[in-house]
Amino acid sequence: MSDVRTQAVREPLCTETPGCAETPGGAAAEEPSRTAVAATVGTPTTVSAPTALPELVGTGLPVPLVDGRSVPYANLDLAASAPALRAVADHVAELLPYYSSVHRGAGYASQVCTSVLEGARETVARFVGARGDDVVVFTRNTTDALNLLAGAVPGATLCLDVEHHATLLAWRGTAHRVLRAPDTVDETLALLRDALTAEHTALLAITGASNVTGEILPIDEICAIAHAAGTRVVLDAAQLAPHRRVDIAASGVDYVVLSGHKLYAPYGAGALIGRRDWLDVASPYLAGGGAVRSVGVEDRTAEVSWAPAPHRHEAGTPNVLGAAAIAAACRALDPVIDEVAPAHERALLARLVDGLSGIAGVRPLRIWADAPDRVAVASFTVTDVPAGLVAAVLSAEHGIGVRDGRFCAHPLLARLAGGADAVRVSLGLNTTADDVDRLVAAVRAIATAGPEWDYREVDGRWTPTPDPRDLDPLRLGAVVGPGGAACGH
Ligand code: ALA
Repeated sequence: MSDVRTQAVREPLCTETPGCAETPGGAAAEEPSRTAVAATVGTPTTVSAPTALPELVGTGLPVPLVDGRSVPYANLDLAASAPALRAVADHVAELLPYYSSVHRGAGYASQVCTSVLEGARETVARFVGARGDDVVVFTRNTTDALNLLAGAVPGATLCLDVEHHATLLAWRGTAHRVLRAPDTVDETLALLRDALTAEHTALLAITGASNVTGEILPIDEICAIAHAAGTRVVLDAAQLAPHRRVDIAASGVDYVVLSGHKLYAPYGAGALIGRRDWLDVASPYLAGGGAVRSVGVEDRTAEVSWAPAPHRHEAGTPNVLGAAAIAAACRALDPVIDEVAPAHERALLARLVDGLSGIAGVRPLRIWADAPDRVAVASFTVTDVPAGLVAAVLSAEHGIGVRDGRFCAHPLLARLAGGADAVRVSLGLNTTADDVDRLVAAVRAIATAGPEWDYREVDGRWTPTPDPRDLDPLRLGAVVGPGGAACGH
């Protein structure tokens, strides 16, 4: 049921799955204002040809500014959470009338939902190039998937200090080492080789793309180094999968974790994909219905025979809409993830990096100057202007959304920014050259002249004062006040 076959030649995911007619190309291709950006890195020129990029829900959303104007939202915070693909939202909508119990009903709708859930495993597995005997476990998100895997690792784990908190922390309770990544990729590979050779390690956890800098390590080489030492590799593809092809079989990676909400499928699901053996014998991640073959009571004690993976780790009613959403995202991304999306995003990143580099006081954060590739994520500090204030001004005066803080990567920000907060800009499928230009112009204005409005800091968050914007447009009566969003971000 959950087993999948590795594709010798990659076939379009659309050919076998329902709902493909709504997937890529359509609406974006008809939208004249959304143009492709020249594919060559370092050539930040717009061209007039329509793109084949799939449409996202919410693109062009009008947002209010503190001066009373309204502008199209430039959502440059996709690395935190990305809007839904139109194809994903449409697929969830078409599935909703069928929504019913999964695995437990003889009714027609239950059977449809069960097929959708199990089909979603196959679609996700094919999208990431899973091996024939790999298993797909649906989780809540990447953090959940890493914590699940942590309970299945039969030995010590290792990671670098560049990771975000889930990869740093999931292994607590196991023998876990965190190594300081050197300043070059070559030195980092040598460090990993030495560390894995010196001390037997069951699992190396490594980022697919840094959530702070977007930098990508050579994962094939890392897998070869790890496997030579008898170590498995889990690739945190939360930031990579929305932007580059992940190919488990070709890279040799043993496990992949990802989040639907970063993969343009924000319906509360994520996935752990990989080798079955550890998962089949590990204690169930959650104990309960759906994870068992049978349960009895003997001598006042519950006796249980656990099911194999994936069901062993999916106790309780599964999130079938979330799983279906991820599968729909895989179908929509499949035709563009090899070339069209990376080309679009590389050109925009070059435009962004070029624009920011010309602004006095803007300091970009990088881990490895020699990283072989980089997804469209860029973090920076602005001299004498707190990152939270930069982000607040970008929102309140320019209608631009970015993330500020330490990006759930406190050790890395301690290294790169002395523990200070930074601003992160992250781009994706619906980002345009105009969005990037607006951001660069706004950062230049902030760095040179400061804010035009008044702001105050409350509980660590900067807020415009006064803030005349309507922050409850859906009339739900719930508005996060100043400081309400503050946490250990
Ligand atoms: N989800 C966190 C981010 O925004 C880690 O990068």
